[in-house]
Amino acid sequence: MSEVKIFDTTLRDGEQSPGVTLIPEEKLAIARQLAKMKVNVIEAGFPISSPGDFEAVKLVAENVSGVEVAALARCRKADIDRAWEAVKNAENPRLHVFIASSPIHLKYKLKLTQAEVLEKAVAAVEYAAKYTENIEFSAEDASRSEIDFLAELFNAVIAAGAKVINIPDTVGYAVPGEFGSLIKEIKAKTPLIEQAEISVHCHNDLGLAVANSLAALENGATQVEVSVNGIGERAGNAALEEIVMALYTRQDYYDLTITQDTTQIARLSKLVASSTGISLQANKAIVGANAFAHEAGIHQDGVIKERTTYEIMDAKTIGLDHNKLVLGKHSGRHALKDFLDKYDYQLDEASFASFFSRFKELADKKKNISQADIIALLDDQLYEYQ
Ligand code: KIV
Ligand code: ZN
Repeated sequence: MSEVKIFDTTLRDGEQSPGVTLIPEEKLAIARQLAKMKVNVIEAGFPISSPGDFEAVKLVAENVSGVEVAALARCRKADIDRAWEAVKNAENPRLHVFIASSPIHLKYKLKLTQAEVLEKAVAAVEYAAKYTENIEFSAEDASRSEIDFLAELFNAVIAAGAKVINIPDTVGYAVPGEFGSLIKEIKAKTPLIEQAEISVHCHNDLGLAVANSLAALENGATQVEVSVNGIGERAGNAALEEIVMALYTRQDYYDLTITQDTTQIARLSKLVASSTGISLQANKAIVGANAFAHEAGIHQDGVIKERTTYEIMDAKTIGLDHNKLVLGKHSGRHALKDFLDKYDYQLDEASFASFFSRFKELADKKKNISQADIIALLDDQLYEYQ
């Protein structure tokens, strides 16, 4: 069983979500919660991008322990110097350098040849190596790059000192079978690959970031880059909570281990949502308001009899107190009875039957039936019976 390393980029790629800015203290609070969850690496920011980001990376590096702290840099000396200055006091600092490798990026953005990109990448890694051995190299837009060039580039940067090779699906273009094969091919075509760890960084433009990341792990990647609630550029990154819970829940399938404390997930998700202002859709996997809620009568009945009939995860595993039986138009007698028992309301059979039809009438008109609605309905009925 090999261990999967969780590299969290909420504070860097996550902060690149349109409209999001985190002040250094907010980054520190999130980083502390990430460390509590025991992620392996926190990418705290891109120090050359702004003085505030430099401060934030420095604050995180100097105040969070038990985790590696990474800072991002382009393949430029000024970027690398700034990144190192920000991150150097961390317990275990990492420099993360990147350059694009795809024909589209080379032609239109960088206006460089492949040979020039290779030369810049090697020079950057050699330069970073004067500060630390802990160097990660990313080939931006790897999934749209020529595979032979990618392998040549990775081999060269490993020879120059890179310890982690990151293969991003920068624009979320890959599909799982293809992305898994890309990892396998890179392994086969890069002679020095055994000297480095393989990482993946998947974006969610087609909603496939988590599926692509898992396919990569099945094909030899050992580090996965994620963000809390899946935030990040455009449609975001692979969601930390989905990757961690997929690996945790399907231990029967994956030959992989994780060392994270899953019970920190709910708190972490709430903290990131409130700090960034990006709220969660109700049906968001793992952390959405409905992720552990049941409304249909058949489901509620099943869950009351045995939770695992309709739940593959226990809400407690992610740090919630319990699941939710939501009372609505699809709910059945069992759930209503369960609710009444919980609040110690005793109704005889006839009163319960009449109460149940009143409840259904209300539920047909109102989307969310609250505890207060039920109590009002009960009071109403008890008053009529007096
Ligand atoms: O999406 C991407 O390619 C990135 C790199 C900087 C790793 O965020
Ligand atoms: Zn990215």
